[in-house]
Amino acid sequence: MTTQVNETQLEEQFNETIAAKDRIEPRDWMPEKYRKTLVRQVAQHAHSEIIGMQPEGNWISRAPSLRRKAILLAKVQDEAGHGLYLYSAAETLGATRDELTEKLIAGKQKYSSIFNYPTLSYTDVGTIGWLVDGAAICNQVPLCRTSFGPYGRAMIRICKEESFHQRQGYELLMTMMRGTEEQRASVQESVNRFWWPSLMMFGPPDDDSPNTEQSMEWGIKTHTNDELRQKFVDMSVPQADALGVTLPDEGLKWNEERGHYDFSTPDWNEFWAVVKGNGPCNDQRVAHRKRAWDDGAWVRDAALAFAENSAADADGATAPAGPDDATAPAGPDDATVPAAPTDSPETPTAEEAAK
Ligand SMILES: [Fe+2]
Ligand SMILES: [Fe+2]
Repeated sequence: MTTQVNETQLEEQFNETIAAKDRIEPRDWMPEKYRKTLVRQVAQHAHSEIIGMQPEGNWISRAPSLRRKAILLAKVQDEAGHGLYLYSAAETLGATRDELTEKLIAGKQKYSSIFNYPTLSYTDVGTIGWLVDGAAICNQVPLCRTSFGPYGRAMIRICKEESFHQRQGYELLMTMMRGTEEQRASVQESVNRFWWPSLMMFGPPDDDSPNTEQSMEWGIKTHTNDELRQKFVDMSVPQADALGVTLPDEGLKWNEERGHYDFSTPDWNEFWAVVKGNGPCNDQRVAHRKRAWDDGAWVRDAALAFAENSAADADGATAPAGPDDATAPAGPDDATVPAAPTDSPETPTAEEAAK
């Protein structure tokens, strides 16, 4: 007996799963709009991880010590890993990495606007760790409970690493604050540049964020942009005090009644200009990504050819091999096995060397 399940029943099941805060898995039925919204969100997140390697990667060769270089290398490599987890999550929704990267390069998909700002000093590595990875943690911890299984599971691994990123940044700034007057001034200057763009990482204000409501209903967003921004400000003020830096906002003060810090409004005109492609480094970031993608084409082709050959070999290995089977391992007389040289051409014999 077969049971016909119609779309209405599938949608009911989907809604029940969401209401119970269970996970939707790739093979489950999902509304097309849910799938599309998720692909856009996960792709934007994956692109941010990969593009985000550029501003800091820029300083790897100029790290002030071996220790700082090892830390920065590990961090930038972590971000590559985050991008890969997320592209894999997007693949379970039917969007390939090639397709998403092509869209990024063509300017059809976005990444976080913060990465369109330049890194002007090594101090920026510390500030990015403290503020940018800190803002990413505020955004991403709630996503560990997102309704789509592969995305939530990727976020759990990512968040563990992000908290190390934040700590290494804070530790770098703390070391500099204990250093010379010049180093302290450099930290303050860097924080002045990154504070406002960090607040913008949470996206536009709630009344200008039309997709938030639907995304919250679907459990792919659990807090609004303004709620997360407030959380980030509340978290950062005591950290700035401990560090001894001033956050560049005269409107920043504790509000006893609200139980939160009040702060000034970010410059949303600047935010929209950067999102629309007119930030200081937009063109440079996308051009670099395109170059890396084009330069890596042969690696992807080679990996694909290797996978195809391995699959063909595995198929061959399962066939019963007869005595005349051409795929049987070659014996010692096989003409394709190069004869072992008695002497390497690079290492002359004692006799030759003496000549
Ligand atoms: Fe990351
Ligand atoms: Fe990070």
